[in-house]
Amino acid sequence: MPTASTGWFETARFGMFVHFGLYSLAARHEWVRSRETMSQEAYDRYLDRFEPDLFDARELARAAREAGMRYAVLTAKHHDGFCLYDSALTSYTSQRAVGRDLVREFVEAMRAEGLRVGLYYSLLDWQHPDFTVDEHHPLRGTPAADEPRDMARYRTYLHGQVRELLTGYGPIDLLFFDFTYPGKGPEEWGAAELLSMVRAVQPDILVNDRLGIPGDYVTPEQYQPDRPLERDGAPVVWEACHTLNGSWGYDRDNHAYKDPALLVRMLVESVACGGNLLLNVGPTGRGALDPRARGTLEAIGAWLALHERSVRGAGPSGLQAPPHTLCTRAGRRLYLHLLAWPLSHLHLPGLAGRVRYAQLLHDGSEIRFHEVDGAEHEHVNMAPPGQPAGTLTLTLPVARPDVLLPVIELELTEEE
Ligand code: GLC
Repeated sequence: MPTASTGWFETARFGMFVHFGLYSLAARHEWVRSRETMSQEAYDRYLDRFEPDLFDARELARAAREAGMRYAVLTAKHHDGFCLYDSALTSYTSQRAVGRDLVREFVEAMRAEGLRVGLYYSLLDWQHPDFTVDEHHPLRGTPAADEPRDMARYRTYLHGQVRELLTGYGPIDLLFFDFTYPGKGPEEWGAAELLSMVRAVQPDILVNDRLGIPGDYVTPEQYQPDRPLERDGAPVVWEACHTLNGSWGYDRDNHAYKDPALLVRMLVESVACGGNLLLNVGPTGRGALDPRARGTLEAIGAWLALHERSVRGAGPSGLQAPPHTLCTRAGRRLYLHLLAWPLSHLHLPGLAGRVRYAQLLHDGSEIRFHEVDGAEHEHVNMAPPGQPAGTLTLTLPVARPDVLLPVIELELTEEE
């Protein structure tokens, strides 16, 4: 039952996820309270020391824009229940802790930078006294697990909090609910009612699929689809969300970082399969982007600055991608992303007669080409032998361009 237009979202293709909260001080994964089965009192040591003096939403917005991202999604509340905004329904908020409504700062900064605004809201809540203790709850296996808890009351809280987020901060473009699992699903969340309230309050908002009922887009997590996603045979709008190092929240000792070149390939692979990439950063306990995240964003931004049009506004090519390439298309332009740099020639079966002009995208330098039509087969110097008729052969420089992923732009003779 998608009702909103996904146009801006599918054009943008690349967004920033921001996981920030009390867990950022523990600096060992956002699930730290659950993983270490911490009591609320033990976890409160982070609340007592929460001081996001380096959380600068404007800087974050600038970093996102310069990385080539066009929307951003902030954890307004994560599973620990701590709210980064001024909620009238709980005192467990950044407003109460440090007098700052970080959601407001975020929304205003992103808008000022021209980015679309998304909020993440955890359906789980390990701090709320009525959220029943389940397998993920930090209090599992303690006497608290047997206390009476009233999910109906929690549901009212959840709906009330979402309404606050959607009425207090102007237009919100996207809502990322998280998540549904056995025992906690559409019924517990009051999902249908919640979703219709969301749409009534913000008719243009996009909502993800983690309420356990269909939303406007689907959200593969830390998993990269390698083909367009479908539901009942029809293509769906999707967004893969990925971490920099396997953790969403700041994780000081985790150095399993993805290389910027890999992240660029993942972005392009998403676009080639009709999807988006939502790339996460986990600011430090003080709210700053660490140097590693900053450097990665800069590297991706440098690549996108030269290759934006193979990604933004582009989508699947509809062609069988030649070996070792990822292929995207926008109108009559076809983009070949070369995963391996060949020696001098790239053979493109089936493209003879369909290409008007070819160039390297990063520097706009012409690529000369030949077409094998049978007759030319004999002219070894012009068209290498052994290619089937209908093959277009590009002549590339020997030296691979010094960019994270080289892109060839082909201007086709025909429109899509
Ligand atoms: C998972 C995790 C959560 C993270 C989210 C991002 O659901 O529980 O910590 O915020 O993925 O998609």
